[in-house]
Amino acid sequence: MLDIKNIEFFEKVETPFWFYDMDLLRKTVKKVVSLAGQYGIDVHYAVKANEEKRILEYISSAGLGADCVSGNEVLHARSCGFPAEKIVFAGVGKTDREIAEAIKAGIGAFNCESLQEIFVVNAMAARLGTRARVAARINPEVDAHTHRYITTGTCENKFGISAHEFEALISLLGRCGNVDFTGLHFHVGSQITDVEEVYTLVCERVNPIVSYFEDKGVEVRNINLGGGLGISYEDPEGEPVADFETWFRTVSSKIIRRRNQSLHLEPGRSIVAQCGTLVSRVLFVKVGETKNFLVLDAGMNDMIRPALYGAYHRIENLSSKLRPNLPQSQVYDVVGPVCESSDVWGMGRLLPLSVRGDLIAICSAGAYGQSMSNRYNLRDLAPAVYSDDMHGARLRTEYFQD
Ligand code: LLP
Repeated sequence: MLDIKNIEFFEKVETPFWFYDMDLLRKTVKKVVSLAGQYGIDVHYAVKANEEKRILEYISSAGLGADCVSGNEVLHARSCGFPAEKIVFAGVGKTDREIAEAIKAGIGAFNCESLQEIFVVNAMAARLGTRARVAARINPEVDAHTHRYITTGTCENKFGISAHEFEALISLLGRCGNVDFTGLHFHVGSQITDVEEVYTLVCERVNPIVSYFEDKGVEVRNINLGGGLGISYEDPEGEPVADFETWFRTVSSKIIRRRNQSLHLEPGRSIVAQCGTLVSRVLFVKVGETKNFLVLDAGMNDMIRPALYGAYHRIENLSSKLRPNLPQSQVYDVVGPVCESSDVWGMGRLLPLSVRGDLIAICSAGAYGQSMSNRYNLRDLAPAVYSDDMHGARLRTEYFQD
């Protein structure tokens, strides 16, 4: 993914920065587009995973739709080329302003997460003298076997409408004169690696729910199974493209579809994770009493995943690839500069012997990395650098002359 030429150039660049391998992004998106065509599935990219303009522009140009979770994401998706009708809008807490703007924009559907939300969308559409398309997000009570912070489809979670409200939902839809009901939406969690098992279970839950609604005279035109396909954080080089085949094959073989009923998926992580690397530098090598620390210039404000979820990311010393004759390695705790003990990239990592100034790559950082970054400790936001256009790279100021 990162060749020696890249690394030589990075040596001159101010760190930290996000490096995006656009060839890998293109390869991944092409795979998704081709499988989507083969299985007749509509794909909406989950913008929250990475909302960088160039990335969104490429994904929209490939013909995918967008899954948004805020009014600003809807606006941003539109400005990056996603047609309004290919945008769906989820989220448990949409504000009146966000709802009104999205109705005016004519988005494809609100994925409504409560009865009250459908009521408000209907009232707002009536007030605006128009109609709104609405899908109901259902909580299918499936455990996705993933981290509890990114499990969304069980009764413990705030998302979706539960079975005990189905009758009230159908009655509400009958009373909402300004909404067009498009179908049902489900999303059970993220970084799902037991793909066949979990999505088979999802489909087994979804099929009777769809029949229930149809038997009561509610036409379900779209079935949206959300996102969630996991990636390999352990072996990004070996598995640069996620296993979309298994995902698409499982859902399309297990879901019962009438003719004219469309099937939708909303991948986020699986599209962008592997194309992104957070490139950082060793500020200091600290020899502690019991362990050695590599203190990097990238921290939990740049990418919060390890601190928030205990997430594993591969760590590589890029500079060591330019000096292959030094084979020694050493165990380090790799940490960031932020004033929190949880600002740790990885404990006890075996890395080539590292020195001050070495470039360090935090791999598989393209999803929920830059999009979740913040300015804690008033730190600067790291810029993006694209493999096919290095203009975003700021050259490094040398404070020390040899
Ligand atoms: N659709 C809905 C309704 C979602 O809530 C999500 C993600 C997706 C699609 C996309 O899921 P994906 O394909 O990316 O798994 N910050 C966490 C992940 C949070 C996911 C939230 N919802 C992380 O860094 O692991």
